[in-house]
Amino acid sequence: MKTVSETISGASHLTCSNCGKIYNIHQQQTYASCCNQPLFTQYNGIHPAKENLVNQPNHLWRYAAMLPVFDATNRISLEEGFTPMHTLHKISAKYAVNRLCLKDEGVNPTGSFKARGLSVAISKAKELGIEHCIIPTAGNAGGAMSAYCAKAGIQATVVMPKSSAMLIKEEVQMFGAKLIEVNGFIHDCGKLVQQIAAETGAFDMSTMKEPYRLEGKKTLGYEIAEQLNWQLPDVIIYPTGGGTGLIGMWKAFAEMQQIQWLNSSKKPRMVIVQTENCNPMIQMIEKGKKNESFQPSYSIANGLVVPTPFAEKSMLRVIHESKGTGVTVSENDIQQGIREIARTEGLLLSPEGAAAFAGLKKLVEKNWIESQENVCIVNTGSWYKYH
Ligand SMILES: Cc1ncc(COP(=O)(O)O)c(C=O)c1O
Ligand SMILES: [Zn+2]
Repeated sequence: MKTVSETISGASHLTCSNCGKIYNIHQQQTYASCCNQPLFTQYNGIHPAKENLVNQPNHLWRYAAMLPVFDATNRISLEEGFTPMHTLHKISAKYAVNRLCLKDEGVNPTGSFKARGLSVAISKAKELGIEHCIIPTAGNAGGAMSAYCAKAGIQATVVMPKSSAMLIKEEVQMFGAKLIEVNGFIHDCGKLVQQIAAETGAFDMSTMKEPYRLEGKKTLGYEIAEQLNWQLPDVIIYPTGGGTGLIGMWKAFAEMQQIQWLNSSKKPRMVIVQTENCNPMIQMIEKGKKNESFQPSYSIANGLVVPTPFAEKSMLRVIHESKGTGVTVSENDIQQGIREIARTEGLLLSPEGAAAFAGLKKLVEKNWIESQENVCIVNTGSWYKYH
């Protein structure tokens, strides 16, 4: 019997996430120009057997049938994914939740969950013959793209705020990418990326403006399900910037339902966590609109400082469909969260991961999460990169 990774990808086409218009998966695509919205990869008529996963490697390419790369020789892998799922027993007891799990993405190659999206996106770029990629980034996505481009032999340009961590700037250069620093936030970097891409023909890897980082990120959802024995938690708390992980996990749950990998039809309530210094999605959830005079400011959780996310509509759809919510946390909540988890559970979270933990505490306080519920928080990066 064929194993899942030997199975040719089941990807069949792309659709506009808003109106469903079909786009060709065998050509280079960016976003759906019909509605100015992200494109979603579709997998028609395949039913990979989850029983075959036992024969698969312990990285995200174990789900290759549900990934968009057709030729296995195009896979650019640094063995990303299949990260630990810790049960935080002491923290579960302290905050009276049934079981609190922490998906620790800090141990991925280049120290963040960005490795997932960029492994798949750069593999697909190779498959489509792209020779130069450019990305606007708060930092981690730039580090990851540089590493995968180095392995793929693709030229890389990374545009990052000056305020990003020194270590990440050095990392990008160590991988041989060109680093451009901008006085501003990620949306300012995005404008410069558009300009350079138009001038040089470099392919723009901006969050949700190309279809395949989402496919890599969705493997977070597959893993959470597999590691919890195909029984999803009641709540997933995700520190959100551009929203790839949030939208990706929700897509994964729908796909797994379709291919009958889940033990129950009950899906988690999805939670977006952002910081006081930049919380456009929480404003949308709570007030139905953004405060137009809103000015972002620096946060230690710099991956969450995305003032104008392209996939805003898709994120709101996830919150609505899952009956989820949004929470804002302060810089102080984040710092306290890092210390609390370090001292009780022996784990150092990235500021973004600590923001998710701080969000959990607020939701328990409000009784939005109840004592019999199982919760998963995502630690999206490594503490060691923020210096
Ligand atoms: C550590 C970390 N957490 C969370 C995020 C936000 O991720 P997303 O853009 O998928 O919402 C980022 C993005 O830069 C990040 O680097
Ligand atoms: Zn459309």
